[in-house]
Amino acid sequence: MKAIRVETPFKVTAKAERLGRVERERILANPGFGNVFSEHLIHATWSKADGWHDHELRPYSSIQLDPGALVFHYSQSVFEGLKAFHQQDGGVAVFRADAHAARFRRSSRRLALPELPESTFIEAIDRLLAIDREWVPTAAEHSMYLRPFMYATEVTLAVHPSATVDFFLIASPSSSYFPSGVKPVTVWLSEDFTRAARGGTGDAKTGGNYAGGLLVHAQAVEQGCDQVVWLDAAEHRWVEEMGGMNIFFVYGNGSGARLVTPALTGTLLQGITRDALLVLGRDLGYAVEEGRISTEEWREGCASGAISEAFACGTAAVITPIGAVKSKGHAWKIGDGNPGPVSMKLRQALVDIQRGAAHDKHGWMHRVPESV
Ligand code: PLP
Ligand code: COI
Repeated sequence: MKAIRVETPFKVTAKAERLGRVERERILANPGFGNVFSEHLIHATWSKADGWHDHELRPYSSIQLDPGALVFHYSQSVFEGLKAFHQQDGGVAVFRADAHAARFRRSSRRLALPELPESTFIEAIDRLLAIDREWVPTAAEHSMYLRPFMYATEVTLAVHPSATVDFFLIASPSSSYFPSGVKPVTVWLSEDFTRAARGGTGDAKTGGNYAGGLLVHAQAVEQGCDQVVWLDAAEHRWVEEMGGMNIFFVYGNGSGARLVTPALTGTLLQGITRDALLVLGRDLGYAVEEGRISTEEWREGCASGAISEAFACGTAAVITPIGAVKSKGHAWKIGDGNPGPVSMKLRQALVDIQRGAAHDKHGWMHRVPESV
C-alpha cells in the first residue's frame, strides 16, 4: 500500500504511567479473544454542523453517555474488525487496512452515519499502534485485533439520523477466536430464523445483525454446535454465511480442487478474508467460483465425496475447518471430520503473508510507521 500523508490535527495525551514489561507480558501470554485492550484509544467527534473534529489519542478509559443517546434506542452504529501482525523482521503491519476503511464507509452509509475518510481511518491505526506497539503480540496465531466503531450520540427519542456521532478505535491483543484453535467446528443450519433479507442490512457491519443471531447461537450450542450457518430468507435453502464468518466449500481433491463460496447477494457480509482467499486460491492453482449452494447439495456432496472440505473464514476466525453439520432433520460429517489439506494450504498461504513470511505480491500489508 502507498504511504498516506498524515494531516489530521490530533490532540495526543499519553498515559502518564505505562504498565511495566512484566505485567504486560503476563497479560500477553494468554489474552484470549477480545478480552484485553491496549493502553490508549483514538476518538473523534462528528456533528452535522462541523463535520469531523476533535481527533484525539488518549489513555484507554470508559465512555460516559446520556441515557437518551440515540444509539441505545435505535442502534445506529457500525464497526470494523481488522488485525495488525508482528512481522518476521520486527515491524508491525496491518492486513488490508484500506479494504476495511472502505467497508467502514459503506456500512456507515447504509446506517445513515457520516463516512470517516479512509486517510483518517489509517492514521488512527498508525497512531494507536505507534504508541501501543509493545502490545502487539509476537506469538504465533496471536495478533492485535483492531476494532474501529462509530455510534449515534444525539440525545433524543425521535427516530432520525443522529446529528452527532462518536468514532473510536480500540486495540485488543488476541489469540485465536475459537479457543480450540484450528480444530474443526460443528455448525447448525438455522431453518427457522433469518439473519438478513434482500434490501436489509446484512452486508453492513452493524451490531443489530449480531444481536439478532444470539438466540439462534444459543440454540446451536444446545444442539452441540459451535456456530450457526445462515440460510437465505426466502427459501431457507441456500447457504449464506456464519454469524461472523464467510464459508467456502472444497470440491474435489489435490491440485484439481475447486473452491466455491456463496456469491454476494447483498444479504451477506463482503468478507475481506473471503476476497483474499478467492485471490490466493487462484494463485495456488485452484479453480475458484462464487456460486450458490443448497443445503441438499452440501449434504449429498459430502455423502458422495464430491465435497471434500468446508471452512469458515474471517478476520477473527482466519480459516477454521468445518468438521460436521447438523440441522433439525439431518447430521453429517465433512470428509473424515478433520482439517482438510486444501483448507490448511490456503490457511498457511494467508498466514505467511500476514506474518511477513511470504512475499506480499498483492500489496495487502500496510506497514505501520514506528512513530507518527
Ligand atoms: N461475515 C460476518 C457476518 C462477519 O462479521 C465477518 C467478520 O468480519 C465476516 C463475514 C468475515 O469478514 P472479514 O473477512 O472481512 O473479517
Ligand atoms: C471479525 O472477524 O473481525 C468479526 O467482526 C467477527 C466478530 C464476530 C468477532
